[in-house]
Amino acid sequence: MARSLEKLQKQYSRAVAPSGRGPMAATNNFKGKPKHSRATVGRILSYVGKYKHRLVLVALCMLLSTGASLAGGYVLRPVINRIADAATPAADRLSYLAAMLGLLAGIYIVGVVSSWLQSRLMIGVSRNAIQAIRDDLFTRIERLPLRFHDNETTGELMSRFTNDVDNIGLMLDQALMSMVSGVINLVGTLAMMIYTNIWLTLITLAFIPVFAFGGQVLIRRSRKYYAAQQAALGAANGYIEESVAGQKVVKVFNHEAECVQEFEQLNDDLRHKQQKAMFYGGIMGPVMGNTTQISYALTAGIGGVLCALGRFDVGGLAIFVNYARQFSRPINEISQQMATIFSALAGAERVFSLMDKEPEADAAAQARVPEKLDGYVIMDDVSFGYVPEKTVLKHISLYARPGQKIAFVGSTGAGKTTITNLLNRFYDIDSGRITIDGIDIMDLPKDYLRKNIAMVLQDTHLFTGTVMENIRYGRLDATDEEVIAAAKTASADSFIRRLADGYDTMIEGDGANLSQGQRQLLNIARAALSKAPILVLDEATSSVDTRTERHIEKGMDTLMKDRTTFVIAHRLSTVRNADAIMVLENGEIIERGDHDDLLAMKGRYYELYTGKSELT
Ligand SMILES: Nc1ncnc2c1ncn2[C@@H]1O[C@H](COP(=O)(O)OP(=O)(O)OP(=O)(O)O)[C@@H](O)[C@H]1O
Ligand SMILES: [Mg+2]
Repeated sequence: MARSLEKLQKQYSRAVAPSGRGPMAATNNFKGKPKHSRATVGRILSYVGKYKHRLVLVALCMLLSTGASLAGGYVLRPVINRIADAATPAADRLSYLAAMLGLLAGIYIVGVVSSWLQSRLMIGVSRNAIQAIRDDLFTRIERLPLRFHDNETTGELMSRFTNDVDNIGLMLDQALMSMVSGVINLVGTLAMMIYTNIWLTLITLAFIPVFAFGGQVLIRRSRKYYAAQQAALGAANGYIEESVAGQKVVKVFNHEAECVQEFEQLNDDLRHKQQKAMFYGGIMGPVMGNTTQISYALTAGIGGVLCALGRFDVGGLAIFVNYARQFSRPINEISQQMATIFSALAGAERVFSLMDKEPEADAAAQARVPEKLDGYVIMDDVSFGYVPEKTVLKHISLYARPGQKIAFVGSTGAGKTTITNLLNRFYDIDSGRITIDGIDIMDLPKDYLRKNIAMVLQDTHLFTGTVMENIRYGRLDATDEEVIAAAKTASADSFIRRLADGYDTMIEGDGANLSQGQRQLLNIARAALSKAPILVLDEATSSVDTRTERHIEKGMDTLMKDRTTFVIAHRLSTVRNADAIMVLENGEIIERGDHDDLLAMKGRYYELYTGKSELT
């Protein structure tokens, strides 16, 4: 258990992607800059572009709300000047004030309503776009060939849906809007400042490089600590996740104390890094704020002097200071949103690159197919490797006549499951030929092929839903009676009836509320429901007791009748009655024949059967 902290962090900082939120999220972009921004932006726009009319409205609202805030600020100038003018009678001053306040209220109401409308419209647009992106992504993932999943972890794939898509959403909801409205604000405010007083504007502008430099220094620092904090957070989260998921193993090996100790170390490291990150993130606001105050003070001072000299009006000075204050806001906003936008673009790039992955090709999708297959399977000199460097199956040749039962036996990793993976084209062979009823499987549409091969996979998988629904997965148009009959064939009926709600019992989390053997029975029932002429049973009964197994076997006999069946089993008793048994070793068939032939051969099978070999 002596994994070093560093190693853990490296491991998890990759696995647990930062959510992109938190105090410094806006100034950080961990996953690298997008490489093809223009193409990516274009593609995002294609999702948003459907809502052109709404977007035009959004832009209009944005202009209105920015205009309102600038105009509202400007109205104060004559108000202050008139109020400060001692020459006007008090009653006139007050009625003028009242009128202007009314005008101001009107302007601000327009501003508020338009910004409300703007964000409402935009959120609608962005959520629709995100829904479409998620749909497209999921559709593509469902169609990817199995080979793709060999190289991609579930976690990585999940983070496309969670982090990356979320970030795009964040960008569309807020960042893009704030950025555009920030630019409009910036230009508008600057124009108003120049209009009010060009000299004061120049003084304010002179301060910008100072802010920029100070800000940069702080940002760089906090970015460093924030990154460290994210990595530490990832490490701690990953550790928690792993320990929770592996609770049983932890307890079996009595590792609780070590686990806690290791976690404490990670936790302490996290606290330390968080302190630093929060400190630098926290002081940034006040430091920048104070620098800004100095600039206001200076502007106000110089403006005051100008007023005293009679070259500027008090109302003008008041609104100018106000504009100057507003001026720095969009600058900060834009620079913050830039980071969000960059990380969203990087995320979008990953999402789109996944969407562009070649879906499982099916050259024969439109091929003409026979009404019904008999299930005459021939494998002719088939070789295959999951990766080019390593051949897993070498020169496999065999045949199975309709209704025959062919068994594969052999040590773990010999290639038994692989043979069945080739049969229904989970993977395509490298050389050789596989035919069913004389037709090369490459010339059969994949969905047709798979409909004709019922499989009980080695790793059982159940979905959230009732027992009935899970069995019906084997053939969606099956009636309840057919489902129950299939369950009886698989000897699953009696245990299902003993469940709390019988066939309506909900199956949770991949069947966690069932025993391993019960899960297998449901999988067999699924296959039993199918009317496919070819049946593959990969360790179908490995987890059920021998009595139940014998029970199933009776059902199986009905199931296998008239079907070509491939059986893989470690328990040799279950394959004894096969028409032919293939003994696989290292991807080669080293012996073949029926049970008696093989025993007479006194070779590998004999060793396995009589227990002279360690294997199986
Ligand atoms: N998806 C995969 N990617 C790469 N290699 C794989 C993959 N699946 C299996 N292999 C490799 O292919 C070989 C044969 O595996 P296979 O699953 O066919 O064995 P098996 O005979 O079914 O073993 P077991 O009795 O344990 O089920 C093994 O060396 C395994 O490491
Ligand atoms: Mg296997």
